[in-house]
Amino acid sequence: MSTKSRKTEHIKIAINKNVQFRKKTAGFENVSFESVELKYKALPELDKKEVDLSTEFLGKKLKAPLMAEAITGGVEEAKKINKDIAKACEAVGVGMGLGSQRAMIEKPELKETYIVRDVAPKIFLAGNIGITELGKHSAKEIEKALDGVGADALAVHINAAQAAMQPEGETNFKNRVEELRKLVKELKKPVYVKEVGHGIGLETAKALAKTGVKAIDVAGAGGTSWIAVDSLRGKKGLGETFWDFGIPTVQSIKECRKVFKGKIIASGGIRTGLDCAKAIAIGADLCGMALPVLKAQQKGGSAAVEKYLKKIVEEMKTAMFLVGAKDLKQLRGKAVVKN
Ligand SMILES: Cc1cc2nc3c(=O)[nH]c(=O)nc-3n(C[C@H](O)[C@H](O)[C@H](O)COP(=O)(O)O)c2cc1C
Repeated sequence: MSTKSRKTEHIKIAINKNVQFRKKTAGFENVSFESVELKYKALPELDKKEVDLSTEFLGKKLKAPLMAEAITGGVEEAKKINKDIAKACEAVGVGMGLGSQRAMIEKPELKETYIVRDVAPKIFLAGNIGITELGKHSAKEIEKALDGVGADALAVHINAAQAAMQPEGETNFKNRVEELRKLVKELKKPVYVKEVGHGIGLETAKALAKTGVKAIDVAGAGGTSWIAVDSLRGKKGLGETFWDFGIPTVQSIKECRKVFKGKIIASGGIRTGLDCAKAIAIGADLCGMALPVLKAQQKGGSAAVEKYLKKIVEEMKTAMFLVGAKDLKQLRGKAVVKN
């Protein structure tokens, strides 16, 4: 199957089927966001209006520590999806990730489907490529793809769990860390790594720390299950067994924080501003959401995405007020983790 029709199928399945982890509460009780409580401060000694969510990520200023995660590109419907999301991100002052740029590297005429700078000139924008593509394309080709869309950085996605469910998935993950290290050295723009929804644990974070990547986006288990998405379209039948496989987001943040000094993006099942505040309290720097952003876009275009992101910001601000944190630095450490 071509990359193009696979992408169209991914979007259709993600919107119309239940593709989220099923065990969010039951199986992950010690590591879900319900297991993290923020410490309420009845006298916060703050005016809520003064709570400051602003931050910096890879050289760009953000009004809140949020980003719409990588979703799409390379197919006709991606054009509107990307522009709608980008426009909302620009209005709210948060970052955005484009979907995998493999399609546009292979077919430059598809570049148009990733273009958002006309509606979002200021946002932090991440380009995207799969780690198994690194051996096939030079740093120069990748740099050109990033420049072509005006990206500030490159997100390299790692997706062994997803690939293992795809009938046509690339499952050779040998030597990928070395390829990544080489790319980080050769590329002019900063590189970070992201999972796609099954989490990054201690050993992987340790290996990534040695590559020079600037950030890790944990994309942990608890939100969109890519095993679910790909098993719903494949014929291997492994998806039912592996549906909930992976490292839960909360655990992933904690494990990465132990061994990685760079920035950490919490994603994978982040659904409210309270989840974001909890993620930052336990060690993350930024939070990302994919499926809820796509669903809002499908429902009401850019305006609906903007409304959703603004709600997340307001919830986050409220959570910070209630723990007496006037900025993100003060939010760190304000959580109790129940085990
Ligand atoms: C329809 C869809 C397409 C996605 N495509 C990509 C992609 O091209 N590259 C990538 O790195 N991640 C991709 N992701 C993964 C997301 O960026 C994110 O890491 C993951 O969905 C977990 O976040 P969530 O639980 O908020 O959806 C995609 C997610 C969805 C829902």
